Amino acid sequence: MRVLVVGGGGREHALVWKISQSPRVTKIYAAPGNAGIAQLAECAAVKAEDINGLLTFARSKAVDLVIVGPEGPLSLGIVDAFQAAGIRAFGPSRQAAEIEANKAFTKDLMQKYGIPTAAYGSFRDRKEAEAYVRRQGAPVVVKAAGLAAGKGVIIAETVEEALAAIDLIMTKKAFGAAGDVVVIEEFLRGEEASFMAFTDGRAVVPMASSQDHKRIFDDDKGPNTGGMGAYSPAPVVTPAIEAQVMERVMIPTVRAMEKEGRLFKGVLYAGLMIDNGQAKVLEFNARFGDPETQPIMARLETDLLDIIEAIIDQRLAKQPVTWSPQSAVCIVMASGGYPGAYEKGKNIQGLEKAAGLPGVMVFHSGTSFKNGGIVTDGGRVLGVTGRGPSVAAAIETAYAGVRAISFAGMHYRSDIGARAMLRRS
Ligand code: AMP
Ligand code: GLY
Repeated sequence: MRVLVVGGGGREHALVWKISQSPRVTKIYAAPGNAGIAQLAECAAVKAEDINGLLTFARSKAVDLVIVGPEGPLSLGIVDAFQAAGIRAFGPSRQAAEIEANKAFTKDLMQKYGIPTAAYGSFRDRKEAEAYVRRQGAPVVVKAAGLAAGKGVIIAETVEEALAAIDLIMTKKAFGAAGDVVVIEEFLRGEEASFMAFTDGRAVVPMASSQDHKRIFDDDKGPNTGGMGAYSPAPVVTPAIEAQVMERVMIPTVRAMEKEGRLFKGVLYAGLMIDNGQAKVLEFNARFGDPETQPIMARLETDLLDIIEAIIDQRLAKQPVTWSPQSAVCIVMASGGYPGAYEKGKNIQGLEKAAGLPGVMVFHSGTSFKNGGIVTDGGRVLGVTGRGPSVAAAIETAYAGVRAISFAGMHYRSDIGARAMLRRS
């Protein structure tokens, strides 16, 4: 089978790494890929959102199956376009991907079907949004309703900050058209977890649990990022929480999407806030999480292609999905300055040494080739992933990998997985 993976981050490297182990794969392409993916796949210089370009490329290479990583192309209807062209594609349709691309739609859906989430209002009119904030008081959360690369969420400690956030999103258009509508939410306390499930629109099969680290600095300080590290399993997702989330969130949401005529096939990802044994939904994503996918793929025992094909053919209920009992931890190594402005093109040393350590996998996010070497080419550069018999062992392995690597300006958190350790002790 000839497979095309769309995207070029750590998530896509982990997906390519996993499917490269499938005996049924004869050739892997990636668009645009990165320097790490290029070791396992042939990379094509086509952007993930250039759907016509991807279609032309896939036809020219007789691709049998397309696996889509990022939300951008999903929300533009890449899966619909490939299906219409007679090429099998994994991921939700444009209409189903709205669960991530339109927070106002999703909050209304959750309200309509009784899925637990923060109280909210959604507004197209700035004055109404301001009046709502004044009525509700602070702390409060202000969100651009559309896609904003994880940056369109502002947690306001005071009413003034919330009003400034509305101004930034609705008047200054800091996130462009994504801010035409704002969602204003009750501030929830608790511990976050990422809950991903495979679904073919009927059966819902949970993945191993995981937890992301969104803030840039240790102890969850500083601004939000795309994610600075992740680990799996996440002890906050106890068997009782998992059962509750399946029963009250994942299955009802998949049923609700079907009822709304937006059958959801692919990976449904609920960002959860867990407090006092109760989970509420912060957001849904219509895809694999990044970096969560790195530790999750490190633990998936089943052939990912079998799962993907079972989803496309709607026979997931009969498809076994098994996980390694090992733990996995992924540490993101970022460029100096990230999540603000950063320089690219820094030489990366030690990649082979790190990858040669037992239990270490180095997934690339923002890397490219230059003068025969590998250089930084993004804010998040690498996801160094370690496996081990316990979270503690996996942390140690992952950081041993990190210490083998260096590039100018690099930084990373030193406390990835620390929460899991606290819970264990
Ligand atoms: P979202 O993209 O909607 O998941 O929001 C990004 C991040 O903002 C989440 O991972 C949380 O850390 C935080 N957040 C979002 N909504 C809330 C909320 N209602 N209460 C507290 N924190 C929130
Ligand atoms: N790790 C957060 C996300 O994938 O959106």
